[in-house]
Amino acid sequence: MRAAAFTGFGGPEHVSVESFDDPSPGPGEAVVDVEACSLNHHDLWILEGHLWIGEDDLPFVAGMDVAGTVSAVGDGVRNVEPGDRVLLNPSETCGSCRYCREGPENLCERFNLYHGGFAEKAPVEADRLVQVPDDMDLVEAAALPVAYMTALRMLKMADVEVGDRVFVPGATGGVGVAATQLIDALGANSIGTSTSARKLERLESLGVDHAIESGDPETIQSAVQEIGPVDATLNHLGGEFSDVGMNVLRRGGKMVICGGTAGPTSELTLSDLYLNNKQVIGSTMGTQRDLEQVVGLVADGEFEPVVDQTYALADTDQAFADMSDRSAFGKLVVTPDAE
Ligand SMILES: NC(=O)c1ccc[n+]([C@@H]2O[C@H](COP(=O)([O-])OP(=O)(O)OC[C@H]3O[C@@H](n4cnc5c(N)ncnc54)[C@H](OP(=O)(O)O)[C@@H]3O)[C@@H](O)[C@H]2O)c1
Ligand SMILES: [Zn+2]
Repeated sequence: MRAAAFTGFGGPEHVSVESFDDPSPGPGEAVVDVEACSLNHHDLWILEGHLWIGEDDLPFVAGMDVAGTVSAVGDGVRNVEPGDRVLLNPSETCGSCRYCREGPENLCERFNLYHGGFAEKAPVEADRLVQVPDDMDLVEAAALPVAYMTALRMLKMADVEVGDRVFVPGATGGVGVAATQLIDALGANSIGTSTSARKLERLESLGVDHAIESGDPETIQSAVQEIGPVDATLNHLGGEFSDVGMNVLRRGGKMVICGGTAGPTSELTLSDLYLNNKQVIGSTMGTQRDLEQVVGLVADGEFEPVVDQTYALADTDQAFADMSDRSAFGKLVVTPDAE
């Protein structure tokens, strides 16, 4: 089979299509013929050499958000069979630790992530597959796992309710657009930011309640404060945006953090945190139930996942270039079976 592999670390020039042996399913596994796999910033972190994948792992096939058709199953697989249209929750959990037993399973002590979706075939843990309804496009389905499942879990961690006001710094990427759409679906109000007027126009057409065009933390803070105190901040940018995210919260408000695109550390004003009884909460990925819920919301017509562009396997390098230069809006999807 063919796969788009990282052959080194740095920029998109290290992404090329390579040949690999066809996978066969081990016990508990299913092989998925991949129709679509979306990019996440996590894949870009790997390509840039920021994560734990090293030279010994090359050539490395990234890609977590696998959607396709089951072509083979291994011993003991009962939940799917060949021909099923499926979507992968790329969370790998041990099944036996305290969190796997009592939940939520995304806290698993041996939590890991699946990689390998930028390929014609992907061998995956069968019990991490979710059935995709017949009338749901697999390209749209591939947009859902990491971005939408993570955003839904963050909204749950923040206890967001109907009518709440939620601030999303950097609202035009995978997690940002997902958050905006889910906030709308929950009947809450969103405030989103971007440095790009073009991307903000698209966010407005999706129904964001307040759009702020700026990348400057102070400007963003004043603009949000003019709108009013927020109940929750969903923060995937980190860096200097965490302080802004805290400062705009109402008393007792919650900031949920899932990433640090703008910087791995943040400074917080502790007196604001304790005197105003605010909360800072970390969150990673979501549960199988969270993913099933986002699939259900799409099936019910609550929102359509936003896919900006699709790419043939041979153009996976271009997809990484488009994520890296911040030109993408929403999700970018590689379609390995398209020419
Ligand atoms: N913990 C988890 O489970 C989890 C899950 C998903 C994602 N994440 C993390 O969340 C982050 C977002 O992931 P994603 O896939 O949604 O990424 P993405 O699609 O690349 O996000 C693009 C968005 O981030 C903004 N942005 C990019 N670089 C920026 C910078 N240096 N300063 C300020 N804003 C910047 C862009 O703003 P403009 O519109 O101004 O260009 C755009 O709104 C990543 O750090 C990722 O690792 C974590
Ligand atoms: Zn576990």
